[in-house]
Amino acid sequence: MKQFISVNDVPDINALIAKAVACKKDPLKYQDLGAGKRIGLLFLNPSLRTRLSTQVAARNLGMEAIVFNVDKEGWALEFEEGAIMSGNTVEHVKDAAPVLGQYFDILCIRTFPSLKNREDDYSEMFIHQFIKYAGVPVVSLESATLHPLQSLTDLLTITEELQFKKMTRRPKIVLTWAPHIKPLPQCVANSFAQWMNAWGEADFVITHPQDYELSTEFTKGAVITHDQDAALADADFVYVKNWSTYTDYGKVYENDPAWMLTEEKLKNTHAAKVMHCLPVRRNVELSDEILDSPHSLVTKQAGNRVWAAQAVLQDILTHQYS
Ligand code: CP
Repeated sequence: MKQFISVNDVPDINALIAKAVACKKDPLKYQDLGAGKRIGLLFLNPSLRTRLSTQVAARNLGMEAIVFNVDKEGWALEFEEGAIMSGNTVEHVKDAAPVLGQYFDILCIRTFPSLKNREDDYSEMFIHQFIKYAGVPVVSLESATLHPLQSLTDLLTITEELQFKKMTRRPKIVLTWAPHIKPLPQCVANSFAQWMNAWGEADFVITHPQDYELSTEFTKGAVITHDQDAALADADFVYVKNWSTYTDYGKVYENDPAWMLTEEKLKNTHAAKVMHCLPVRRNVELSDEILDSPHSLVTKQAGNRVWAAQAVLQDILTHQYS
């Protein structure tokens, strides 16, 4: 891979999952691969899992990882081409990114959407400007519309669980909207849908209240219903996530607590495993009874972030630099 921005950068999803499984089995097998190389982790937003798991992954490959909290410690960046910089922005990405490209062999970036202007957010200008000007491979640590390292982790976790259960039939995987107290990005849901559709080895159903439709760019191929109970019937995996509205962009239309997943709702599933990317608002998005039960895969999922990141970095190092 030359970059990792979405599933479209992955020629073979199952091969990348197999690479992640191999990293988990033998984390230090390629500890010399990244020797003498530096990875820059740029954060324009907060993070626990992405920040730490990517650092651990890079160290396992012998790389030096440097974290830069751009939003708190850097100059305010301008991303618009031709901008007259007489406002709050101090440095253009056109100047900053090539400098970062000289310091680092791989550049990883986390940005969030504004949730104010859909066209701007869905143009993915921030990450595309870094790709254009950095001159080194760019890895998304979550962008305005997608979270590919999370989705790779999610598929790794699902694959492991299918193997553990020795399940040979096609699984049913449900992505369900959950309530939240504030508007959240659509990134995790978009990305999960995009990866599920590209993977194609499960019956994939999305359920959400009316008016919470995601972009068809990512959901195409999925069954979509507003009936959560019907969606959950016979499910093997339930992925829980809140997102704000896409059509009337970035709004919270309703926050019906009845959409929170409970043990009761899992009764018609195949003892479904429950997933969430974390952080999770307990007893708003997901009940304690589920999060603290054997149904929950969330800790395993978060642990797998290391192996997903390591597989991606290993692939980039192997193909770009060895
Ligand atoms: N799931 C996820 O990306 O977690 P962080 O925001 O803590 O990195």
